[in-house]
Amino acid sequence: ARIRHYKWEVKYEYKSPDCYKKLAITINGRSPGPTILAQEGDTVIVEVKNSLMLENLAIHWHGIRQIGTPGMDGTEGVTQCPVLPGDTFKYEFKVDRPGTYLYHAHYGMQREAGLYGSIRVSPADGKTEPFAYDYDRSIILNDWYHKSTYEQATGLSSIPFVWVGEPQSLLIQGRGKFNCSSAPSGPGVCNASNPECSPYVMTIIPGKTYRLRVSSLTALSALSFQIEGHNMTVVEADGHYVEPFVVDNLFMYSGETYSVLIKADQDPSRNYWMTTNVVSREPNTTDGLAIFNYYPNHPRRSPPTTPPAGPMWNDPTARLAQSQAIKARQGSISTPPETSNRTIVFLNTQNRVNGYTRWAVNNVSFTLPHTPYLVAEKYNLRHVYNQSPPPTGYDFEKYNIYDVPANTNASLSDGIYRLEFNTTVDIILQNAVSMGGTTSETHPWHLHGHDFWVLGYGTGKFDINEDPKKYNLVNPIMKNTVPVHPYGWTALRFKADNPGVWLFHCHIESHFHMGMGVVFEEGIEKVGNLPSSIMGCGESKGLGNP
Ligand code: C2O
Ligand code: CU
Repeated sequence: ARIRHYKWEVKYEYKSPDCYKKLAITINGRSPGPTILAQEGDTVIVEVKNSLMLENLAIHWHGIRQIGTPGMDGTEGVTQCPVLPGDTFKYEFKVDRPGTYLYHAHYGMQREAGLYGSIRVSPADGKTEPFAYDYDRSIILNDWYHKSTYEQATGLSSIPFVWVGEPQSLLIQGRGKFNCSSAPSGPGVCNASNPECSPYVMTIIPGKTYRLRVSSLTALSALSFQIEGHNMTVVEADGHYVEPFVVDNLFMYSGETYSVLIKADQDPSRNYWMTTNVVSREPNTTDGLAIFNYYPNHPRRSPPTTPPAGPMWNDPTARLAQSQAIKARQGSISTPPETSNRTIVFLNTQNRVNGYTRWAVNNVSFTLPHTPYLVAEKYNLRHVYNQSPPPTGYDFEKYNIYDVPANTNASLSDGIYRLEFNTTVDIILQNAVSMGGTTSETHPWHLHGHDFWVLGYGTGKFDINEDPKKYNLVNPIMKNTVPVHPYGWTALRFKADNPGVWLFHCHIESHFHMGMGVVFEEGIEKVGNLPSSIMGCGESKGLGNP
């Protein structure tokens, strides 16, 4: 095993990823940032200098379980204090499994300002992957807003509430196209011929097979991704091998990663479109475009066709069907325990708290404490957050998920769920109608520090007596991010076997900001010495051995 050492400088720079010039957060001048390349068993060291000048920072390694290193999870308020402007923080962790992972900011809503990138881990020497390909590529899909994260976060936390709205453009590997004629005028604000916003080009050699690692780190949007004239064979999801299945389009939710195999077997005398479009919300954003370039055609030559439109935005059945199609690959199945020790039901609702619009789980809207939980737990500073545990269910006999309740008020809390170490926990995510009374949104839930088995999805209200009988205990896929579909439920199982404190939250940036998350503690007594670099804020001043 090797050490992979990276030195990053994070700062604000003017960028025009979709032709519209605005401040973006870059790593060493780039957004998306550099791809971390490592091999199973390697240690990754990233020294991050915060040169944002006026802003704190924290970086999360999404999909890396941080076994034995809970303090390196990079979750501000949960596992560490923020990194102050001018400071350098050293992240150090092991990548213990091959697969496709991500990294991104985990402080405020910074992720959507451009601080994100991919992590690609290859199998250890002597291990092979259960599928063959000639070349390996990665792209990240994202949505892009022209307002600053300050304006957005402030609007979400105001009375009256100001919603962030639909994104201005969709980016494929950091490139999109905003229609400059609809931009506010001003010299150089939007420049359609800026080379920074020329479409991303993936050049391929006819006849070859490509492994394309596609991830989504959208702030809001659920997406569909497709390549004109080519189908895709899904072989990996969130670092786990998938029983291969073929799709024309891939639905992707923020925080998910997939590998697909694509054979360059179409007419090689032309180029093709790669497109991404919004689903699950009525789109008000033009589709993202990139060029699938058959060598030796000119990479900038537009395909002779109109870009494929992608699937209908308002067809939840197709999305549910794709979620259900994902199964663990024969030969790479990790079987879940037959039963669980505990079931926690999480009802997802939109609520009001003192007139503010919030999201809540079982009527509790999450807030972060000022002292990170991990440090507070380890040093017995229990008074720094609410000691009463949040509810582990709701009145599912009476509750109607299709109706907005008469009283939409919820409460705020930073209380946490304590899981007994090494027990098996089932989580049921239950969706419901939003406060407007007409729609139910898609929420991608992401668990830090673990992978979970996806036991099933369903529509309507989860039936605690009948639905568990339909769980897939034979070949469920393991993931770290999973959607709960409109008016539906998703059932997960995981082992609470990673000592630490871990966030579980909706990966939609504004939903988490509005309280859509919970925190689990397990085996805190087994956590070893914590690095003093994660301390220093709130009541964690002066703790640790410097
Ligand atoms: Cu990728 Cu807590 O998130
Ligand atoms: Cu959400």
